[in-house]
Parts: sequence; structure tokens; C-alpha cells
Amino acid sequence: MKITILGTGYVGLVSGICLAVKGHVVTCVDKNESIVKSLRCGKATIFENGIDNVLSSAIDQKNFFVTSDLNKALEGVEAVIIAVGTPYANGQIDLTYLLEASRQIGGYILNNDQYLTVIIKSTVIPGTTDTLVREEIEKISKKKLGEFGLGMNPEFLREGNAINDFMFPDRIVLGYEDNKTLSILEKIYAPWNSEKIKVNTRTAELIKYANNSLLATQISAINEIANFANKMGNINMQDVVKGIHLDKRWNPITNDKRLNPEILNYLKPGCGFGGSCFTKDIQAIKSQGEKLDLPMSIMNAVLDVNSNQPYRIIENIKKNVGELKQKKILILGLAFKPGTDDVRESPSLKIIKDLIKKEAKIYAHDPVATKNFIDSLGSISTKIEFIENWQTILNQIEIIILVTPWEEYFSLIDCKIDDKVIFDARRALPSDKISKAKYLSI
Ligand code: UDX
Repeated sequence: MKITILGTGYVGLVSGICLAVKGHVVTCVDKNESIVKSLRCGKATIFENGIDNVLSSAIDQKNFFVTSDLNKALEGVEAVIIAVGTPYANGQIDLTYLLEASRQIGGYILNNDQYLTVIIKSTVIPGTTDTLVREEIEKISKKKLGEFGLGMNPEFLREGNAINDFMFPDRIVLGYEDNKTLSILEKIYAPWNSEKIKVNTRTAELIKYANNSLLATQISAINEIANFANKMGNINMQDVVKGIHLDKRWNPITNDKRLNPEILNYLKPGCGFGGSCFTKDIQAIKSQGEKLDLPMSIMNAVLDVNSNQPYRIIENIKKNVGELKQKKILILGLAFKPGTDDVRESPSLKIIKDLIKKEAKIYAHDPVATKNFIDSLGSISTKIEFIENWQTILNQIEIIILVTPWEEYFSLIDCKIDDKVIFDARRALPSDKISKAKYLSI
């Protein structure tokens, strides 16, 4: 099928190249000419595991095109997917790009006698597609829903794992407002055997929000329990986690074997979640709930716990080593998680800013995210010494805080660290193998 995608950001580009290698003919549209040029040459404009290979395959198969000309890209296509950013700003979700895209598509529908299904992939508040997007397209195109189609197909892509998540999805949510759109969505995802959920568009929108909200709720809940254990003292959180993991309702037993579901590996007490999705989505659903006169107390608490979590790390270190003034501290990891150069909402930002306030001497390392981190921190970044090879600085360091569990940091246990304090803010290191150094975690 011929498909056009608006937006070549993280979601648009990954979706575009994956749909193309599965056999669809995809054209991605972006206003930015330098992005168009780079993608045409097979150079990905985002950092993502395995993306260059899939992009090259899509181009080699002659299934993937990029242009800045939307009208041309819409000629003869059955479906256009909108994958533009929906940031959270000034207390609400910002739909500027989404509505602009809807207007442009509406303009095309007005001037062309061609049935087009518009599918929203951007994360939006429930009720956005069937009200705001629909109204905008109807107003500009002077046509009614049915003369064009409308769908909502949320993404569940984890940064660093996005290609894999697209190729092997847990489920595919097909949100639709008209039957023709449903059959187009089914045709798009025909090459995938995963379970498909067919629902109206606002249900599709809520599935995405509910999924992220519940994951984030579990993270904040386990962090709150770990904070409690810390305050009590003499509690081994590792054993607490193990005790929870053995509950059959979390971890069923079949044929005498534990299933060990992935969520148990995912949830680890630590410095809290970062990234562009969890905080933004919870803020958005919370403000929508409040508009509906529904106080979202749990969502409030999830954000509250998470926003304080980085400071808990520092509080803990201080409890163990005293004042941090002039202490030489190495921060390992600046990206919000491994496998990405994204530093948005990264716990490292808060940890480092607070340590600078406390006049500690900061050294920092990340294999790929240093530049983004410096851009995001601004002038305070001059107070940090960014290190290229973290092993070489270890002999000068008193405290190491592991914030992003990049695999290369696991070799820390083989380094000479006996005289140091190590705060493992992600529970990534085998604490039993760290014999002499002082190992701390939440
Ligand atoms: C998330 C969702 O998982 C994905 O389905 C959705 O489409 C986009 O948002 P992502 O933000 O890429 O994906 O990363 P994820 O792996 O879910 O981790 C988010 C953050 O939570 C990271 O900062 C991670 O370190 C943190 N985290 C995870 C914790 O702080 N504690 C945990 O126990 C687990």
C-alpha cells in the first residue's frame, strides 16, 4: 500500500522505515530540507539502535522516499499517518503541529477527488481525533467524515529498542471512526501476526495513556517503598523485591516453572523515570482530568515521587559520607536510559545541578549523550568536567554515581574501586561482587 507519513522524528521515521521494509511504499514528509537530504542519503537523523541498517534496506528496496512537498506526497495514497510532536507546554498538551498537519491534509482533500484516511500516531488526549482533528479536516476540506477516513494507531516504542518494538509489537491498536479506515488499518498491519485490538479512536488514545501511566505508577510505587526502607534502616530492598517477585499473581508458575514476566526485570528501585513520554503523558492526562473536574490524585503522586527521587540519591549519599563540598564525584550516564542520546527529563540533570549547588567537584561521562546534555544544561555545564574515558579518572574520584546503566559501566566491578563510595542509582551492578568499596543503592 502507498502510505505517507507526516513527521520524521523518532516515531515517524521508525514507523516509516519499518512499514517500508515490510513491503509498503512509504513517503515521509518533513519541512526541514536538511533532514530530507540526509535521509535520502541513508543517514538517519536520530540516534536509535539499528536504524541505519533498516533505513538502508528500505531505500535499497525502493520502498522509502522523503520529501518536503506534502501535496505531492499525498498523490494516489490511501493513508496518511500524522506523527508530529505533541509536547506538553504551559499546563497542557500543545496540539499546534497536529492541527497544522490536519489543516494541510484538509486542504489537499478539498482540492482532490481522492479518498484519504487520516491516521493519528502522535500521542494525544482521548477525544482529540474524533473532535479536534475531525472538525479541523471537515472545516477545511468542506467534506464530512466518511468522504475521508479517520483513525488512531498509537505507538508503543521504547527509545533504544524502537525498531524491535515496531517489528515485534506486543499488540497493535487499530482505532477507527469508519469501517473503510478499519480495513485500511488492517491492510497496513497485515504483515504482522501480533494481536490486534479494534476500537474507536478515543479508546485507542486512552490505551496509550493508560499504559504509560500504569508503568510510571509502578515505578513511583516501588521507589516510594524503597525510600521507606531507606528511612527505616536495616532492610535489604533486594530481598523485599525478591519477596514481591515470588507472588504468583505477579509471577505465575506453569509446569513447575516461573514465568518471570518482563515487568519484573523492568521495575527496579532507583532515581526515577526520565524521557520524553512518561512525564509528559501523565501531566497531560492529569490536566485533562482536572478540566473534567476529576482530581487525578494518583497521577499527581506519581509525578511528585518521581520529581523528588533524584534528590533522595543525594540525601542518601550525604547520610553516608557527610558534606559533599569539594568531594570529587563521577557521574556515569547522562542519557535518560541506555541506548539513546536523549537527555530529556534525565535524572542526571537534577542530580548534577544539586551537586553543583552543594559545591561538589563533578566529573561526568556518557558514551553518546554528552553534547545534548551540555546543550540542555546551558552555562552551568562549564562547572562540570566531561570525561572521555571514565576508567582513566577513577584514581582521583571519591564517589561514583551510576545513573544510566550503559553496559560499559558494568566493568566497574573489575576496576580498582576499593576506596570509593558507589551509589548504584539503577541497581545495575552485582552488589555481592563489590567487596571493599562502599556500595549504596535505594
Ligand atoms: C516508554 C514506554 O515504555 C513506551 O511503551 C512508550 O511508547 C514510550 O514511553 P521509554 O520512555 O523509551 O518508553 O523508556 P522506558 O524503557 O519505558 O523507560 C522510561 C524511564 O523509566 C527510563 O528513564 C528508565 O530508566 C525509567 N525506569 C524504568 C525507572 O526509573 N525505574 C524502573 O523501574 C523502570
